[in-house]
This record gives sequence, structure tokens and C-alpha cells, in this order.
Amino acid sequence: MENRLRFPPAVVDAVIAAKTARRRDDFIIGYRLSPEEPQENGITMTDTFALADTLKARALQYLHVSLWDFHKKARRGADSCRSRLDLIHERIGGACPLIGVGNLFTADDALNVLDTGWVEFVGMGKAVLINSDFATLIYQGREADIATEIDSSHADRCGCPRSKAGKMMGNRWMQVDGLM
Ligand SMILES: Cc1cc2nc3c(=O)[nH]c(=O)nc-3n(C[C@H](O)[C@H](O)[C@H](O)COP(=O)(O)O)c2cc1C
Repeated sequence: MENRLRFPPAVVDAVIAAKTARRRDDFIIGYRLSPEEPQENGITMTDTFALADTLKARALQYLHVSLWDFHKKARRGADSCRSRLDLIHERIGGACPLIGVGNLFTADDALNVLDTGWVEFVGMGKAVLINSDFATLIYQGREADIATEIDSSHADRCGCPRSKAGKMMGNRWMQVDGLM
């Protein structure tokens, strides 16, 4: 564990030193972490709490948790009745904003998870791949126009040709209308 925890802060400290040397107060620095791995010797919540403690002592502008499902509960090393994000949020105790992500496709999805109080910000991955104009649609009050699957007959919505959309999504990462 001690050795596992040496590299991340060394990288963060070097990046913060470079920012300070260049007097770039406007340059935000965050850290994205994977909270748990299923393998026997994989990362557990115990490791993640230790990493969070190390990171929260540094001047980061955000922590971002890499998850497939926003609501995923802890597997090992913490209360498995609680979500990973809830637990990490509690652990960092407001030291910096937390970003959550995972299978959120609509404006309501984003609002609902913000209501959990587990995160300060929400990230959207696949939703933005499907709707390259996702933020614009919300800004314009057109939430109803947000697509939740790639419409292969209107591939321009996701900014890539039909063949590429099919290849990119071929691993069942998301629904592709007419292709899956
Ligand atoms: C094609 C693809 C590649 C991804 N690669 C990574 C990766 O290299 N590292 C990582 O932490 N997460 C990776 N993810 C997970 C995403 O960052 C994100 O956590 C996940 O897609 C859930 O959010 P979403 O439902 O909004 O897309 C990947 C997801 C997809 C679909």
C-alpha cells in the first residue's frame, strides 16, 4: 500500500509545481481515480480512501471518480450498502469538489444524481458521444431533444460516420439504433 501511494502524489506535486512556476492560477488541476478493481489484488475502497487522504491534502480543484454506474455500491473495504461516491465524498470532506459519472443520459438523470448530495459536479461520457450538442440542448431548454441512443440514420448528431459509430459502439457500450 505504501509503495502504491508514492506515485500519484509525486505526479500531482510535479504538476502543481509546474503550474506554480508558470504562475498559472487559472489552470485547474484535478485527479481522476478508479475506486475499485474486482481482481484479488485489485484496488479496494481501503486503498481509495488512503489515496483520497493523500490527494485532499493537495491543492487540487477537483477529484473525479471513474465509474460505469454512478450508483455503484462499494465492493470491498467499506460499507457495501453505500455507494462508492457517497463514501468518497464523505472521506474528502469538502476539501475539493467531487465529480461523479456513470450511465447518465438525460438532463433529469443529471439533476437526480446531483440531489443525492454525493457530488458537486456530474460528468457525462456516452451521452455526449451520442449528442455532441448535449450542453447546448440543455442551455436552450431543449432537454426533450436529447437522444439516448445513436440514431444511425442521423450519424451527424454524434459527429461521426455511420460505420465509425457502429465500430465505436460495437462492444455494447451503448444502444445504436439500427446497428444493435
Ligand atoms: C469507449 C470508452 C472508453 C473508456 N475508457 C476509459 C479509460 O481509459 N479510463 C477510465 O477511467 N474510464 C474509461 N471509460 C469509462 C468512462 O470514463 C466513464 O466512466 C463511463 O463511460 C461511464 O460514464 P458515461 O456513462 O457517462 O459514459 C471509458 C468508457 C468508454 C465508453
